[in-house]
Amino acid sequence: MNVSRTISGIRGDLTGLRPKHVGFVPTMGALHEGHISLVEKAIELCPVAVVSIFVNPTQFNDKEDLNKYPRTEDADLDLLRKVIREDDAVFIPEVEEIYPSEDKRVFNFGNLEKVMEGLHRPGHFNGVAQVVTKLFDIVEPDYAFFGQKDFQQLAIVKELVRQTGSKVKIISCPIIRESDGLAMSSRNRLLEPEIRKNAGIIFRTLNQAAELAKEREIPEIRKHVERSINSTSGFSLEYFEIVDDKQLLPVTDRSQFHKENNYFCCIALRAGKIRLIDNMEISLL
Ligand code: PAF
Repeated sequence: MNVSRTISGIRGDLTGLRPKHVGFVPTMGALHEGHISLVEKAIELCPVAVVSIFVNPTQFNDKEDLNKYPRTEDADLDLLRKVIREDDAVFIPEVEEIYPSEDKRVFNFGNLEKVMEGLHRPGHFNGVAQVVTKLFDIVEPDYAFFGQKDFQQLAIVKELVRQTGSKVKIISCPIIRESDGLAMSSRNRLLEPEIRKNAGIIFRTLNQAAELAKEREIPEIRKHVERSINSTSGFSLEYFEIVDDKQLLPVTDRSQFHKENNYFCCIALRAGKIRLIDNMEISLL
């Protein structure tokens, strides 16, 4: 396993391996089975896989969130050693390597960034776009793998690829869940034990919302979600939306559902001091 900390290092590792297809899994570390499923998909589809571990400061609108984001490099490398092959590489740059000077680029994703995470975490997707374009320039992957848990990020990255004319093919990978349905996330390890014990409520509530969406009106579904989350000790709802997966337009009335679109229930909440997001597709049949 090649571990590089510099741009010239990772580029050097990859030069000898092209024209083999390169699959890229960008991460912020604190790896879990969800990340490993992305790495396994990259390995399945590509002769060379690159995993980056970089806690990107520009996508944190909250300094405290950035400071407490888990950093577990040794454990991450141990996990990766179990799955990756000789030619695969890990890229772990320092902040100065990626941002030798301030990145002043401003991206415009229209409505995609005006809802949900975009509204609640101003600047977040601009930071994601900054780091993803930089990492794509460095790694020059053929494929890049993103988890569906970050539903809105996936839509933004697809739009970024469209806007920049990038040749990278974006592969979306399913959410991996714990046995109680909690979506795997690096932030889960920050949950206090009492909160973690009750965190299955998120998956249960999403299931109920997806079921209700087949026949009930949106305000009724929203009320149910609010009640379910806010009545669980230590949990408080930040937002709940039902949106389509292309334009992310929030549905406010059942008459706005169109058979040809795919719709998702999206949720963000506080679980104790930790902010979590999750989503679930609705089958409207
Ligand atoms: O999903 C993440 O972990 C991050 O947003 C990403 C894509 C690695 C960019 O920092």
